[in-house]
Amino acid sequence: KLQAVLFDLDGVITDTAEYHYLAWKQMAENIGIGIDREFNEALKGISRMESLERILIHGNRAQDFTPNQRTVLAQEKNEHYISLLTQLLPEHTYPGIGELLEQLKQEKVPAVLASASKNAPRILTSLGLEEMFQYMVSPDGIPGKPAPDIFLNGAEAVGADPRYCIGIEDAQAGIEAIKAAGMYAVGIGEERVLRIAGANIVYESTAELNLSSLLKAASME
Ligand code: BG6
Ligand code: MG
Repeated sequence: KLQAVLFDLDGVITDTAEYHYLAWKQMAENIGIGIDREFNEALKGISRMESLERILIHGNRAQDFTPNQRTVLAQEKNEHYISLLTQLLPEHTYPGIGELLEQLKQEKVPAVLASASKNAPRILTSLGLEEMFQYMVSPDGIPGKPAPDIFLNGAEAVGADPRYCIGIEDAQAGIEAIKAAGMYAVGIGEERVLRIAGANIVYESTAELNLSSLLKAASME
């Protein structure tokens, strides 16, 4: 019955959520704004410009920057982020992800990348995983998470009915997007945080993911 599995990227397939955090923290510090890990939870899954907006509001500086200055700040953050990405190697793929992708391939269930990141293609290439995905959603011009559109777009592209799709996310906004799309939501991370967002099941680590237990949990055997 399962028709597709849709994967978030940052914080689900590899640890790039941490790189995003480090790059935002540096950019924020440069303009005198402090951010911590707790605040960062609200940035996960959120687009680049929207994340910047949230940081400026958090620091009470939203009125201090013109649209052009905002573009420059976002560029600075992205350049720093891309410099961190150069470290990324196939062995940095989170545990259990490669195995799950292999299982899906064997069962002929499409794997879809449903990331808000414009850097997603280069990250998949660094990890050597492009071949494992049937479709990669391109987030340009699509409403971002927590809107369901990124997930709906991915399901549609592979001809899957959202009711028979599983989405995997580490972000609150991402879990909300999966639920709004009418899919089964698997959270990776903190049970308390992700259950509130609506996750159907939460695993502490991707090492716990495998196709047969997912199918059982989602009643899609
Ligand atoms: C999401 C991340 O996957 O992509 C966010 O969780 C990030 O932290 C967003 O802001 C956009 O990424 P990028 O690479 O286009 O700046
Ligand atoms: Mg994520």
